Amino acid sequence: MEIKSAEYVVSNTEVYKCPKHTLTEYAFIGRSNVGKSSLINMLMGKKDLAKTSSKPGKTILINHFLVNRNWFLVDLPGYGYAKMNKSGLAKLEKMVKGYVLNRDCLTNLFVLIDSRLEPQSIDLGFFEFLGVNGIPFSIVFTKADKLNDAQLHKNITQYREKLFEQWDELPPIFVTSAEKGIGRDDVLNYIESINNNIANSESK
Ligand code: GTP
Ligand code: MG
Repeated sequence: MEIKSAEYVVSNTEVYKCPKHTLTEYAFIGRSNVGKSSLINMLMGKKDLAKTSSKPGKTILINHFLVNRNWFLVDLPGYGYAKMNKSGLAKLEKMVKGYVLNRDCLTNLFVLIDSRLEPQSIDLGFFEFLGVNGIPFSIVFTKADKLNDAQLHKNITQYREKLFEQWDELPPIFVTSAEKGIGRDDVLNYIESINNNIANSESK
């Protein structure tokens, strides 16, 4: 998919204040500092569309962007930032889970995982939460540039094996690097194929 335009629309703290629309919507979620905002900028081909930081806890709102005047992309705060104070953490978790559970127009949630780490219980628990609640999601490994091919392959194989302990089938899995542009076409083509499927089924 070619990105012709990507515009910031609005930021909110509550899901019920988010834009009302009839477009498809794709959100990016994952632990603080995993690279959500960087991946969004890489996908959109714009350096500073979403705010990034080397310090965790940068994104603290639900941020909507309109892409190609045709679909919404959403940057969410991270979960599980241990150094944030308890009430701040609880507030962010409520915001993120409120969005995931109540955003009826959410088409697909991309859950980002740092490709360098072994499976973390907080992420496995989050997959469980999505499964129980029937939320459609995909998995995106980030920061692939930080590993060589052999390490990357080993980590992803191990992750898949871990997931198979919990699931019979795995969702789509993408490998990306915001730094190197890896995985850009895969993610964008996936979004395009879902958008096309929905448009075709609506026109029947
Ligand atoms: P929060 O908003 O705090 O939850 O973080 P986030 O998940 O949006 O992460 P963000 O995109 O702000 O990136 C966190 C840090 O990781 C920044 O220092 C980025 O430069 C770095 N980073 C993100 N993606 C990549 C990547 O693909 N490769 C490398 N090497 N660094 C990355
Ligand atoms: Mg962010």
